[in-house]
Amino acid sequence: MKGIILAGGLGTRLFPLTKITNKHLLPIYNKPMIFYPIQTLINAGIKDILIVTGGNNAGDFLRLIGNGKEFGLQHVNYTYQEGEGGIAQALDLAEFFADKDKIVVVLGDNIIEKNIKKQVEAFSKQEKGAKILLQKVKDPQRFGVPVFNGDKIIKIEEKPKEPKSDYAVTGIYMYDSRVFDIIKTLKPSNRGELEITDVNNDYIEKGEMTSDILNGWWTDAGTFESLLSASKMAAETGANKMD
Ligand code: G1P
Repeated sequence: MKGIILAGGLGTRLFPLTKITNKHLLPIYNKPMIFYPIQTLINAGIKDILIVTGGNNAGDFLRLIGNGKEFGLQHVNYTYQEGEGGIAQALDLAEFFADKDKIVVVLGDNIIEKNIKKQVEAFSKQEKGAKILLQKVKDPQRFGVPVFNGDKIIKIEEKPKEPKSDYAVTGIYMYDSRVFDIIKTLKPSNRGELEITDVNNDYIEKGEMTSDILNGWWTDAGTFESLLSASKMAAETGANKMD
């Protein structure tokens, strides 16, 4: 399985912090944000990694990460997203890299306390389709929110004003190679982006989506509040533990 980290975008919710650098290079406690999703993949046993970046500071990723020696890697792949086309558009740039393999996608601002190794192993045995990881949150309206019928997810609503559950779809997604065919059928949403939630809903409609609850804490770091709480949680309890 291959790993893809999406670290493009302009990070406008963190302006002016993101005026002169990419969001994913900002500090979370004692490390640049991008170090956490890289470690998430490595702890899950994935060493073949593509970083999709964008914006004005893409060169800084190469300066910071290089070939990934600090992470015990010998090589890291990079690609560049032009403009602000959304998560699914960024992911489309990974088709060549994925080369028909299954993929684990991590949003560059998603930070976790523990390890997704078990879920990645389960997905490697899943015949086809996709897998998402959920987490209970206090503010589901900020995220993709699953709608349940009993235990079954019947759809995901993106940033609903009236969430139908108190779970968020975290920014850790597992897909088979058909994800790239699905992306090519998407139309831009109201915010002008190709939405990863539309990709996930396509798999749900096909009956090919599985899900699991993430262990430990999880946060994004794309707003001032979540950037601060991510640093606090990383400092107080630690992130990317092996269990
Ligand atoms: C994105 C997704 C959303 C998901 C979230 C996780 O939102 O669209 O479904 O719950 O990441 O971090 P964004 O933060 O890009 O608005």
